[in-house]
Amino acid sequence: MDYQALIEETAVFVKTILQAESSGHDWFHIERVWRNAKIIHDKEDQGDRLVIELAALLHDLADEKLTDEAEGLSKIQYFLEGEGLSESKIEKVLEIVQTISFSKQVTKDKLSIEAKIVQDADRLDAIGAVGIARAFTYGGHSGQLIWDADKPVRKNMTKSAYRNGETTTINHFYEKLLLLKDQMNTETGFAMAKDRDAFMVSFLDQFFEEIGRDPVDYIE
Ligand code: ADP
Ligand code: NI
Repeated sequence: MDYQALIEETAVFVKTILQAESSGHDWFHIERVWRNAKIIHDKEDQGDRLVIELAALLHDLADEKLTDEAEGLSKIQYFLEGEGLSESKIEKVLEIVQTISFSKQVTKDKLSIEAKIVQDADRLDAIGAVGIARAFTYGGHSGQLIWDADKPVRKNMTKSAYRNGETTTINHFYEKLLLLKDQMNTETGFAMAKDRDAFMVSFLDQFFEEIGRDPVDYIE
């Protein structure tokens, strides 16, 4: 199988499925994650490039927020088998897709180098200017308020509290987005996360200044 043809066919496959996705997981999210993954891989120079690119492209097709996870995984498997990719590479891709989600809370030592790179690439798209845009898009999509004086920031949430509990989009920055920089797996990912993190901090400072309230206490 020709490398470039496989990547291009995968991109078309994903684009068709996620074209109209409106919660912030649209094709352009995938394209940005794919680009980030290639930048990180170029610098880190570790891991199987084909597996990284395929997993970056396919990573949201089995996301439990968007679809049934098992169904999504078989769709990916069926597609890659049809493309003639080897069983061992298919398995690697499926494993990455299953382990990188924030809500899964899989610890770093259990991630392959390819999974680490794709996870960093995905997380970079959740922070910075793009991350701010996506957070408010997700918040609007799920009917959540921008900010609520009566909703405190939650700390050390369980998976179901993270997914099902009531929050606000501003709280989401403290509950997740500001934690991501220090959880990056690779040096390159961490370096790329720094500016994006600083931009969110200054956005939040400005937000609280404009509404005349004290900012949320930083999580230690
Ligand atoms: P992952 O894809 O790693 O599992 P999530 O599904 O939690 O991560 O998040 C995907 C995107 O949706 C991120 O940009 C994230 O900030 C945003 N998001 C998730 N939950 C919320 C929320 N409660 N409020 C605002 N944005 C959210
Ligand atoms: Ni994603």
